[in-house]
Amino acid sequence: MARLENKIAIVTGAADGMGEAEVKLFAAEGASVLAVDINAEKLEADCGGLGDKVKTLAADITGEGAAERIVGAAVGAFGGLDILANNAGVVDYETADIMRADNWRRTMDVNLNAMFFLCQRAIPEMRKRGGGRIINVASINAVVTAPGLAAYAASKHGVAGLTKTLAVELGPDNITANYINPGAILTGMTRPLMDDPDTKALFESFSVLPQMGMPEDIAKGALFLASDDAAFITGHGLTIDGGFLAKVK
Ligand SMILES: NC(=O)c1ccc[n+]([C@@H]2O[C@H](COP(=O)([O-])OP(=O)(O)OC[C@H]3O[C@@H](n4cnc5c(N)ncnc54)[C@H](O)[C@@H]3O)[C@@H](O)[C@H]2O)c1
Repeated sequence: MARLENKIAIVTGAADGMGEAEVKLFAAEGASVLAVDINAEKLEADCGGLGDKVKTLAADITGEGAAERIVGAAVGAFGGLDILANNAGVVDYETADIMRADNWRRTMDVNLNAMFFLCQRAIPEMRKRGGGRIINVASINAVVTAPGLAAYAASKHGVAGLTKTLAVELGPDNITANYINPGAILTGMTRPLMDDPDTKALFESFSVLPQMGMPEDIAKGALFLASDDAAFITGHGLTIDGGFLAKVK
């Protein structure tokens, strides 16, 4: 039996990386999925031909009224909402002393503020269904950081705090809220960095396993958190990092 039979999901950041892998895995496990991304062309190319159960919506999650429009589109297309998987994210490496205000604001807007409004708008729809699942992608940078990551790490620590609070507030509604801390994963965000051999070697060294993390590794964690197997798990940060955080430098 498929693990997400009759479930309705929204996946943001669906045109690449972890979001795209989640759309495909959730749909293969029986869910109806609204795939959302700002990159309309790539979204259509990657998720446009996946059958009746996957609908695409090109949208900037930070746009005015975006949360209402996105949740409304899922409810309009499929009749409700059970699962919200927030993957859309950006990173722009700059040390704090020279960071452009635009970088700080955009990182916060995409990685944290828009996520909050999507979660907020999803709550009444999940209550109508008698429960739900919120799965927010944070990062190992919700735990540790590095130079150049002030905005990114602040946003990801924020994701952890937001998600834990949602878990506490929404437990009585049978809505779980969990976040995932990916390590170095080969996606649209990291692929361009792999052209530089030193950076490639650095990213590969983050994993204690022979291989680097792949988007499907994160999608499988998200599927677990969305499934009945995770019914008693909430307020949890699931680290999927190939052992990175366990390693003493
Ligand atoms: N790749 C990694 O190593 C890594 C590690 C830890 C955490 N993460 C996090 O994982 C999440 C997914 O990233 P990924 O690695 O799959 O990156 P990715 O770049 O492959 O995918 C992110 C997607 O988000 C979309 N997006 C960006 N801004 C948007 C907006 N305003 N509105 C709608 N869509 C938007 C992009 O178009 C892109 O398709 C992010 O939150 C990222 O911070 C990534």
